[in-house]
Amino acid sequence: MIEIRDLKKTFGTHMAVDGISLSIKKGSVFGILGPNGAGKTTMMKVIVGLDRPTSGSVRIDGRDPAVRQTRESIGFMPESPSFYDHLTGLEFLTFCGSLFHTQAMKHHEYLDLLKRVGIFEAKDAPICTYSKGMRQRLAFAQAIVNDPAYLFLDEPLDGLDPIGRRELKSIITALQKKGTTIVFNSHILFDTEELCDEIGILHHGSLLYSGPIEAFTKGQPLEERFVSVIQHLS
Ligand SMILES: Nc1ncnc2c1ncn2[C@@H]1O[C@H](COP(=O)(O)OP(=O)(O)O)[C@@H](O)[C@H]1O
Ligand SMILES: [Mg+2]
Repeated sequence: MIEIRDLKKTFGTHMAVDGISLSIKKGSVFGILGPNGAGKTTMMKVIVGLDRPTSGSVRIDGRDPAVRQTRESIGFMPESPSFYDHLTGLEFLTFCGSLFHTQAMKHHEYLDLLKRVGIFEAKDAPICTYSKGMRQRLAFAQAIVNDPAYLFLDEPLDGLDPIGRRELKSIITALQKKGTTIVFNSHILFDTEELCDEIGILHHGSLLYSGPIEAFTKGQPLEERFVSVIQHLS
């Protein structure tokens, strides 16, 4: 269970996250929606413990996200992943896996993970030769290298072709089936609609809505409803 209480994050005088309270149930797939600059990335970084809140609190299974025990149960795929470009995909993933104390993965498990995300053939090529889609796939692989109970994905499907999107979505669905709690944001609301049980809508750092998709859309396609709500506020 993720419990967010009156969370605020300011940058100078700018309030990027403005008093959000939200509970995300264990085992759910939760979609964060909002226009550019709404505070989605900032909120996610604070939830995973990469950034500290200005005020308010985040608890994951009752614990602070910044403590090691919590971090070991978290996977995070950042919005603009950067790599050690001179490493190969396999070397990078092995390095990421070695950072976790709990379960040291075996060599063949890294190979399996690279197969699962569809970049096995490029495993021995330096990352600087990877396309945008391949980098997204590698970033996704590092986010699940520790088999996290809580997986946070910031625009995971950005830059992927339709086949790549479908493949990563099927991994997300498989992870959900085995009980992983997944929080992600995407501007492709078709994907959000397909994958999520619940959504939260951010606008200027505030939560406009949180709950089941159907209670928000009331029979309309999610994208249409979302655009009309945001336009109405602008
Ligand atoms: N490190 C930072 N320093 C200053 N302002 C920031 C920083 N990170 C984000 N912001 C500002 O906070 C607001 C929310 O940004 P962000 O969380 O990236 O939005 P989103 O992910 O929804 O597009 C934006 O106005 C952005 O310019
Ligand atoms: Mg963002």
